[in-house]
Amino acid sequence: MRLGVSLAALGGIVYGINAHTPGFGLHGQALALLICVVVACLGWLVRTVTVYLDNQHRTLTATAAGGALVTAGGLLMSIAPVPAALALAGVGAFTAAVELTPALATTLTAAGVLVAAVGTATINHQWVAFAGYSAGLVALTLAGFNRRQYKQRLVQAEQLLTQTRIAAAADTRAAALDERTRIARDIHDVLAHSLGAVAVQLDAADALLEAGTGTPRARHHVQRARHLTVDGLTEARRAVGALRNDAPPLGDQLSALVADHHNDAATLTIFGEPRPLPANAALTIYRTAQEGLSNARKHAPGQPVTLHVHYHHDNVAVTITNPTGTTADGSALGATGGSYGLPGLAERATLLGGTLTAGQDATNWSLQLWLPT
Ligand SMILES: Nc1ncnc2c1ncn2[C@@H]1O[C@H](COP(=O)(O)OP(=O)(O)OP(=O)(O)O)[C@@H](O)[C@H]1O
Ligand SMILES: [Mg+2]
Repeated sequence: MRLGVSLAALGGIVYGINAHTPGFGLHGQALALLICVVVACLGWLVRTVTVYLDNQHRTLTATAAGGALVTAGGLLMSIAPVPAALALAGVGAFTAAVELTPALATTLTAAGVLVAAVGTATINHQWVAFAGYSAGLVALTLAGFNRRQYKQRLVQAEQLLTQTRIAAAADTRAAALDERTRIARDIHDVLAHSLGAVAVQLDAADALLEAGTGTPRARHHVQRARHLTVDGLTEARRAVGALRNDAPPLGDQLSALVADHHNDAATLTIFGEPRPLPANAALTIYRTAQEGLSNARKHAPGQPVTLHVHYHHDNVAVTITNPTGTTADGSALGATGGSYGLPGLAERATLLGGTLTAGQDATNWSLQLWLPT
């Protein structure tokens, strides 16, 4: 289609030249006209195939086509100043301006004007026609530059769109990975806080029963295991609820946690104005409180624990404190840990841009979480 239109336009131009000039022949001006038209036709055909080539070959063919067309047009101008001369040279200059560097395209246009000027000075002296021809050639060159910029902008916009799509796909992958890591961490936390302890209780019961002694004590361990299993189930439900974003308010969750703190005294105090927090932040605070209470139970049994939550305007700080007066009693529960609790919490805090610190002074062990919100 495109080729057909191009060839039809060329046919029209050649017909116009033949009709408005002395015509083609094999002698004198008629021969010169014929040569001009043949060169122009070759240039036109090369230009037509230019769009189908890759960048490297395009530069070559556009230079050849532009050169042939502006030269033929310039000569034609000086033999017979017909509009077709400008049409041929103009198409050459426009193509060069679109496909080539501005410097090369300007050189070709200047060459076209120069050929026409020399021809006009030596052959027909029609300077008014020459001026119109030159102005037309310059205008078409500028139009070509414009078109070139437009095409470049189009390419840049497409590249930007592709990059944006790639970045969006990477973001989606990263978000999916984050979510998977979060789910894995929650599964680990629930298992670590329930199944590990259940196993220890059952081991203890098994040992007592095997020895054939202490059935009441074995029963106590089984009951404890049952209790831990129920706790684990509750935890699992809570974790699923948090993942589905339908967890109850953080204050309620913390109160329930403190109320469930078996045997030992635990108190919750909230400072500042509580506000809804992002799901990830609320879950991290909950997990920190849970691990802090669980640690106090394991590593400082019988000691009172205080849980303080401070709502500041752009962050939340959580502190869990228990006296270190009594060290862990070496009980089975105290030995269930794998020291994964605090590193896991620190990882959660860092992911949200917060910090987790833990340590003891002369009298207290304390665990502190700070989260920007
Ligand atoms: N409330 C606490 N009182 C005294 N010591 C503590 C307290 N919390 C933690 N610790 C000390 O810090 C260590 C690391 O705690 P962490 O929670 O990382 O591991 P864990 O509780 O031993 O095992 P896990 O959490 O994997 O079940 C504990 O082994 C204990 O020595
Ligand atoms: Mg722990």
